[in-house]
Amino acid sequence: MLRFELTEDRSMRLLDPADADELFALIDANREHLARWMPFVGQTRSAADSLTFIHAAVRQHEENRSLQMAIVQEGRIVGVAGFHRIDWTARATSIGYWLAEAHQGAGTMTLAVRALVDYAIRVLGLHRVEIRAGVENRRSRAIPERLGFREDGSVRGAERIGSRVIDHVIYAITDREWTPSNGLRAHAELTA
Ligand SMILES: CC(C)(COP(=O)(O)OP(=O)(O)OC[C@H]1O[C@@H](n2cnc3c(N)ncnc32)[C@H](O)[C@@H]1OP(=O)(O)O)[C@@H](O)C(=O)NCCC(=O)NCCS
Repeated sequence: MLRFELTEDRSMRLLDPADADELFALIDANREHLARWMPFVGQTRSAADSLTFIHAAVRQHEENRSLQMAIVQEGRIVGVAGFHRIDWTARATSIGYWLAEAHQGAGTMTLAVRALVDYAIRVLGLHRVEIRAGVENRRSRAIPERLGFREDGSVRGAERIGSRVIDHVIYAITDREWTPSNGLRAHAELTA
């Protein structure tokens, strides 16, 4: 079971079908907060939609195609972060994330993304990790900036969120640029 210990009370673990109700309740309670930047929110209308998402995530993880992990604080899910898709030819991936509104401001997502980059580069042997954020999504942009990612450019008309079309900034870090995070207690344990 893949699991990262972030701090004494915060960790990341694979999403499980048993999480569907809790995950949906969290999304539902954070609908307004998340809908500004996350297009999936409008399509998540019931726990069944969250279960469909989790089933797809489990299958794609089993096939080594992507990874979605729950961020857990004191036993409760507070957000999700993971790889959208792993490109094994280029040895590259991109990271996506969201956190419940009330759990912002404590460095949780910075720790989660750091763990994912560490796992991508040191465990999976990937060469490049990308993060795309809305140009005006300052909180999201601050995460790759805090972790030493560099800007690679921008994509115009990159994403449709409701009726808005937004531009993205692309951040990336390569294996040669990544400094292994010594303070991180990341336990990447894979079992069949
Ligand atoms: C993007 C998102 C995850 C960022 O959340 P966040 O709380 O700002 O990010 P972090 O958990 O890394 O916390 C950083 C904040 O904690 C503070 N912090 C406290 N301790 C910290 C630590 N040890 N390390 C880093 N930051 C720390 C930082 O100063 C920062 O606060 P500030 O914004 O007031 O300066 C969140 O706003 C979100 O889910 N937004 C909606 C969905 C979304 O936009 N997803 C991304 C799409 S590209």
